[in-house]
Amino acid sequence: MNQEVETLDSLGDSNEHRRRGLLALAASTKGFMPDDEGLALYNAARQAGWEDRRGGTFLEVGAWCGKSTIYLGAAAEETGGVLFSVDHHRGSEENQAGWEHHDPEVVDPTTGLIDTLPLWRRSIADADLEHCVIGIVGDSPTVAARWQSPLQMCFIDGGHGRGPAWADFRGWSPHVSVGGLLAIHDVFPNPADGGRPPYELYLSALRSGEFEEVGEIGSLRLLSRIRPPDSAL
Ligand SMILES: C[S@@+](CC[C@H](N)C(=O)[O-])C[C@H]1O[C@@H](n2cnc3c(N)ncnc32)[C@H](O)[C@@H]1O
Repeated sequence: MNQEVETLDSLGDSNEHRRRGLLALAASTKGFMPDDEGLALYNAARQAGWEDRRGGTFLEVGAWCGKSTIYLGAAAEETGGVLFSVDHHRGSEENQAGWEHHDPEVVDPTTGLIDTLPLWRRSIADADLEHCVIGIVGDSPTVAARWQSPLQMCFIDGGHGRGPAWADFRGWSPHVSVGGLLAIHDVFPNPADGGRPPYELYLSALRSGEFEEVGEIGSLRLLSRIRPPDSAL
């Protein structure tokens, strides 16, 4: 009996150690996700995963160097789920040279193009999450148009321009299952704080009557699907 308690305790300790390690790694990874929002994303995905018998199918649009991927991947590992991480790894418009969020460190000197894929792979390998994180390298709306699996969690953080943001929303939100979560990043009600498109998607999701808001942390909004999409997939 004592031995059994001891075994369970040490298992709890090692899970907690792993959890803390992953969250610390995510916080130190290059990217665009404040710690409190990352933690909220992780907790929301865990909840969504636990409510699914397979542990949750999660998908993120916009991985960059793997910061949000580690938060979501940590949740997938805990719940026995899988995270699909979609990015062409060429950077959004706002990441290109001359724009506000350009980072010369992620430019491939041979091609002169942004290439965050090697950094993303390194992040996932360092986190030891390759067993539950699957990278999909390509254009998000193209992948969405051929996607079949219902999602328990979909995180939209791809291109923030009007065209790319709406294409992601239209492509991916119908795949969120009833009871599943749609998370949208960089939602700024005040235009002085940031660009409009993510805020407009968020409003559209609420106005559709298909989603209700269940969380707000910084610029992250968490919406739960309460009824199926109008148009059948
Ligand atoms: C804001 S960054 C993502 C930040 C990331 N979630 C983090 O935690 O640091 C946006 C990402 O979206 C990707 N992206 C933009 N448009 C895309 C598209 N059409 N298809 C796939 N990825 C795209 C960019 O390559 C970039 O890595």
